[in-house]
Amino acid sequence: MSRIEAEVGKPKGGLMKWIDDRFPFTKTMKYHVTEYYASKNFNFWYVFGVLAMVVLVLQLVTGIFLTMNYKPSAEEAFASVEYIMRDVEWGWLIRYMHSTGASFFFIVVYLHMYRAMLYGSYKKPRELIWIIGMLIFLVLMAEAFAGYLLPWGQMSYWGAQVIISLFGAIPAIGDSLVEYIRGDYSISDITLNRFFALHVIALPLALIGLVFVHIVALHEVGSNNPDGIEIKKLKGADGVPLDGVAFHPYHTSKDLVAIIVFLMIFSAVVFFAPEMGGYFLEHANFEPANLRATPEHIAPVWYFTPFYAILRAVPDKLWGFILFGTSVILPLFLPWLDRSRVKSIRYRGSLYKSALALFTVSFVALGWLGMQPPDGVYVVVARLCAVVYFAFFLLMPYYTSIDKTKPVPERVVYHG
Ligand code: HEM
Repeated sequence: MSRIEAEVGKPKGGLMKWIDDRFPFTKTMKYHVTEYYASKNFNFWYVFGVLAMVVLVLQLVTGIFLTMNYKPSAEEAFASVEYIMRDVEWGWLIRYMHSTGASFFFIVVYLHMYRAMLYGSYKKPRELIWIIGMLIFLVLMAEAFAGYLLPWGQMSYWGAQVIISLFGAIPAIGDSLVEYIRGDYSISDITLNRFFALHVIALPLALIGLVFVHIVALHEVGSNNPDGIEIKKLKGADGVPLDGVAFHPYHTSKDLVAIIVFLMIFSAVVFFAPEMGGYFLEHANFEPANLRATPEHIAPVWYFTPFYAILRAVPDKLWGFILFGTSVILPLFLPWLDRSRVKSIRYRGSLYKSALALFTVSFVALGWLGMQPPDGVYVVVARLCAVVYFAFFLLMPYYTSIDKTKPVPERVVYHG
């Protein structure tokens, strides 16, 4: 081997060189995988981004197979789902993987978002990653909502009825907007058809595109870490951050463990509790949609209930709608509401820690309250939790600016 060869490595030849001369394959792999340096102190909270990607792929693949036997018409939809469950080979597995996948998607994404709140990952320079993430969250909600109408069960129908009619509260344009969304005077075959188009092509396309730009933005600025330290500020002579390790093989090997554990939990639910006691698949949805009889108690699936509880906590229809919409989009403004000098919870003071604890309890409580009947003490507690929810965001500029923070170390703290 010549001296030059020894310095720059063996010359590439064959197929790889042929590809690299025409497409930046090796360059891209280096930039995003083998020479993408992420902090060495990543912990449990850092696996949820990768897990969200795994669930996205699971949903796309199982969705394609479901579409092969599903019939998007009010006449046939319910029966076609029953057909998938009983007659299509492995149809029950594909359907349960898809319905369980929907709930797991939200579990994973909520934990992923919560991680950003723990470590201030939305703060400068990661505002855009967060904004794209919030767009993903909104599209994901629309995707789940459209998908839930497709089996054309009692809850599919009446859940959509409640949510779509909310838009009727908007002054002047409300009624025509509701009609525009439904495409008809009531929820009908036409509504089912357009929701099918949104669910199987428009929204998944948007999701894939957004996830792509989410990662591009992330790799431009680099990942945050549990200490909230910018590792790019301290580089060695070789230009590699002193506290960074290559994404592959160091983080991929840890992620693989997380993926395996995740798939074990996911399989346990798919095989032993796919309805999850009515939380993942509501009991009323095993009856075909009946336009003349409302179910005894209408509640959306668990992942919408925190916001639904806020909606019902407000007595006025228009204000309920406004606060419901505001509660969903408020987190978008976190990068500007949070005035703290430090990112990570490890170095924040007691004010932020208490605020986050109160917010967490209220959000979980709202989720539970949204499943209960809207009367008596439930509404009173939901109002209280809604106040805490809004106060967490709206008072944030104040309490984060006066909070007593701890000094942030120069280098990341690694608990091996
Ligand atoms: C389909 C949904 C999503 C996928 C596939 C996804 C994927 C990822 C991946 C792979 C990472 C890097 C690994 C990690 O830090 O965990 C990441 C980072 C990040 N994501 Fe997401 N994400 C999704 C949704 C969201 C949502 C809804 C938000 C917030 C509203 C969000 C905010 C962030 C932030 C702030 C980071 C940087 C975290 C850091 O460096 O500490 N993501 N995402």
